[in-house]
Amino acid sequence: MTDDQQESRPPPGAKGLPRIGETLAFLRDPGKFYLRKREQYGEVFASNVLGMRLVSLVGRGANRWIFAGEDKYLQNQWPKAIRRLLGAQSLSMISGEAHRGRRRLLAPHFSRAGLLGQVPAIAEVVTAHFDRWVQIPGETRAVAQYKAMAFEIAARYLFGDPGAVGLDLATLSQDFDTWVAGMFSPIAVRVPLTPFARAMSARKRLFAAFSQAVQQAASADLEGDDVMRTLLRVRDDNGQPLGNDVVVDELQLLMFAGHDTTVTSLTNLMVHLSLHKDVYTKVCNEQDALAGEPLTADTLRKMVYTEQVINESMRVIPPIGGAFRQMIRDTEFAGFTIPKGWSVSVNPGISHSDPEVWEDPEVFDPDRWGPDRAEHKKAPLAFIPFGGGPRICLGQHFAMFEMKVVLALLVRGYTWRLVPGQDLDYRMIPFPRPKSGLRVLLKQR
Ligand code: HEM
Repeated sequence: MTDDQQESRPPPGAKGLPRIGETLAFLRDPGKFYLRKREQYGEVFASNVLGMRLVSLVGRGANRWIFAGEDKYLQNQWPKAIRRLLGAQSLSMISGEAHRGRRRLLAPHFSRAGLLGQVPAIAEVVTAHFDRWVQIPGETRAVAQYKAMAFEIAARYLFGDPGAVGLDLATLSQDFDTWVAGMFSPIAVRVPLTPFARAMSARKRLFAAFSQAVQQAASADLEGDDVMRTLLRVRDDNGQPLGNDVVVDELQLLMFAGHDTTVTSLTNLMVHLSLHKDVYTKVCNEQDALAGEPLTADTLRKMVYTEQVINESMRVIPPIGGAFRQMIRDTEFAGFTIPKGWSVSVNPGISHSDPEVWEDPEVFDPDRWGPDRAEHKKAPLAFIPFGGGPRICLGQHFAMFEMKVVLALLVRGYTWRLVPGQDLDYRMIPFPRPKSGLRVLLKQR
């Protein structure tokens, strides 16, 4: 065998237990799992997690290779449980020209310009939620509060007035939580009373509620800039509508993709501002200077330091720890052949702590985003909280608008304290947030 042939082998790695492979160790602590494997096998290694033969690739070169490979040598992939729970016709389940065409249809609505009108509506929901939150006597869990807030923001954005199409937010959010809880089940088998089985039942109810809302909207006047009515109005290149079932699948994907990600980001922002008083003071100064202006997209653009803080928070703790792709043909990367059918993962956390790009990457330092340092400009694909390539987050502008509005209204109107003595340890999967749910005392400022 020549040297070349010897090098071009599948990446090394273990298979783990039958059926579940190494899923349990991975779910317990993905960071430690990764470091242990890297020590054992090197930078490129295979494992067996969440029903996938998964190759870990890290670094900017790997990110570029993955994002450039869409439909050439790899395609999007979700773990089995998510595949069974998400709607089969949604954007994240389709590939190739179907995916590109759908993105073309949706992109204008999710662009910065398309979202300008959403800012006052977001601000209205956020104001109402903070008003209620501050009246709760004693401590509350920020995660629970942000979940309720973000759920209503998303519901208004997706459905306009949810009540007008027969949706009850309280029931919906309960089913939504049960549905999401099943997404990361190590085994996607419907064994009664397991989180996965409960999630499948919740899925049925959610889809029924969404279908009924879509039918009701479709049979009435389609005026409105909510996503549901927009999707019902759009026509593809052949002048065809999407179809109600596709609209339903898209709506549930958007709810899933946009909810816990934003909640996680908002929670971690609160942690960082609590731990870095100098940063908190600078955000307050910026917001106090802008407080006389109505909250519009124009005002959000002036929140330069606030945006640096949001970016830095997502750099240090990316709300999505990884994304998966499946190989559609044997392809070589870094001297290994990654076989067709195997999966590869994008790992934002590793890129976000690359010392070649980020000065003292372990330090929380929003000034690294300022014009004089602009470390993120040193290297493309070093900062990928929203992913990259053709599947870059469709909702990234909406998410940034939402995070800025929440942060602005939080620091302008309120102060808070972390409940002393709480354990600020993180659970990393499914979303990296403090295990405590972040116990805080919120007060009027
Ligand atoms: C801080 C908040 C958010 C973060 C960190 C985030 C992150 C991401 C990432 C990393 C991806 C790419 C996954 C991949 O490569 O497979 C993604 C995709 C996606 N996101 Fe977001 N997201 C956020 C908020 C939102 C919001 C608010 C929405 C909707 C309103 C949304 C809708 C989507 C959709 C539809 C996709 C799939 C795109 C496709 O497959 O073409 N996201 N998001």
